[in-house]
Amino acid sequence: MKEKKNNFSSRIGFVLAAAGSAVGLGNIWRFPYLAAKYGGGTFLFLYLILAVTFGFSLMLTEICIGRKTKKSALYAFSSLHKKFSFLGILACLVPIIIFPYYCVIGGWVTKYFTVYLTGQGQAATDAGFFTDFISKPAEPIFWLALFIAATAVIVMMGVQKGVEKASKILMPVLVFLSIGIAVYVLTLPGALDGIIYYVRPDFSRFSFNGLLAAMGQLFYSMSLAMGIMITYGSYVPDSENVESSVRNIELFDTGIAFLAGLIIIPSVFAFSGGDESVLSSGPSLMFITLPNVFASMKFGNVIGLVFFVLVLFAALTSSISLMETIVSIIQDKFHLKRRTTCLIVLLLSVIIALPSSLGFGIWSGITPLGMSFLDFFDFVSNSVLMPFVALFTCIFVGFIVKPTSIIEEVEKSSPFKSQKLYTILIKYVAPVLIVLILLSSVANAFGIITL
Ligand code: PHE
Repeated sequence: MKEKKNNFSSRIGFVLAAAGSAVGLGNIWRFPYLAAKYGGGTFLFLYLILAVTFGFSLMLTEICIGRKTKKSALYAFSSLHKKFSFLGILACLVPIIIFPYYCVIGGWVTKYFTVYLTGQGQAATDAGFFTDFISKPAEPIFWLALFIAATAVIVMMGVQKGVEKASKILMPVLVFLSIGIAVYVLTLPGALDGIIYYVRPDFSRFSFNGLLAAMGQLFYSMSLAMGIMITYGSYVPDSENVESSVRNIELFDTGIAFLAGLIIIPSVFAFSGGDESVLSSGPSLMFITLPNVFASMKFGNVIGLVFFVLVLFAALTSSISLMETIVSIIQDKFHLKRRTTCLIVLLLSVIIALPSSLGFGIWSGITPLGMSFLDFFDFVSNSVLMPFVALFTCIFVGFIVKPTSIIEEVEKSSPFKSQKLYTILIKYVAPVLIVLILLSSVANAFGIITL
């Protein structure tokens, strides 16, 4: 197979594109709520430790596998070892499942962006505005198709002119906007209680479940175990220092997650005194509670608009990484042109997204495993396939191709400072942690335990 000609043109371009994938909806509503629930500062501290050890090892591994083989996940594993082609197939399934439903949520964000853009933020505070909208048959499909189309246009332009360029513009804007809104929110009366609740270490709230939640969040947040970092790694030139790139990507991801908490938690506190059930309410926090919070602020429509621009950019850079990964898999397999591939993926994704969208309306009666379609796809990909792929990746690197193969890859550009730590983590610590995540998330889904 011929090598891909795609490459990132600069280190900063690569770091921003990978950070763009990592920073997404998970950072904005999930991280703050988990931190608040599991002991504030204690959770933040633990999350950081896990990010620089566990997350670091897994991300570095994926990027190196991509760079070494110069292939998408589909062939990367099998080109290193024939018997592991199954792992490539599993890794590719994850973005194929996630992309359509992620775009359903991306469509909702696009709709809210236009609501605020046209100055109708007040309308979004009506009870029922959100549920009426998502249960309609046609309108959410229009928005999701628009969101996928926007993603497709960028991916179609290629790695340098599309993915890299979009990340170089969107990511700095995103940082700037998050800092801006956080500063504004901190001036609100009552915000201080929210900050204290968010960051003050409360050891009594910390538990084993908190540890599992931190790990699960880390996985999803760093876009691991779904072939994305393998694909992006395949575009990284050998001269790049991957160790420090991974450190930068982590810093970005965790920094934005932390800032999102500084926006959301004090806002909810200023508005309603920080009811935990509100903070933990997931999509409804973003689409129902926050519009009410914004409406209660001075300049609420502007803040709401800026907030939804932020969420839209975060969602868009993540969906770009998902689509790029799928496109590179198809190109590796069928050798089609990028344009044709993008059009095929665009069309198929809209079709595959239909159940996830209609599952909130006319198809709400169909509930696989007792979940809505969107939750079901989310469960299969995040709670089952991803830990499985990550576990086998660790076994593959730890015991089959051996950590030295990754260490050599890192050292193509510069000495690998944390190689001893890396070897222990990838061989022993990460697999054990991943098995725990897998068991607990399945047990949680079947109601055996509650996380
Ligand atoms: N990392 C993203 C987040 O934190 C989630 C995501 C994973 C998005 C994979 C796209 C692809 O929200």
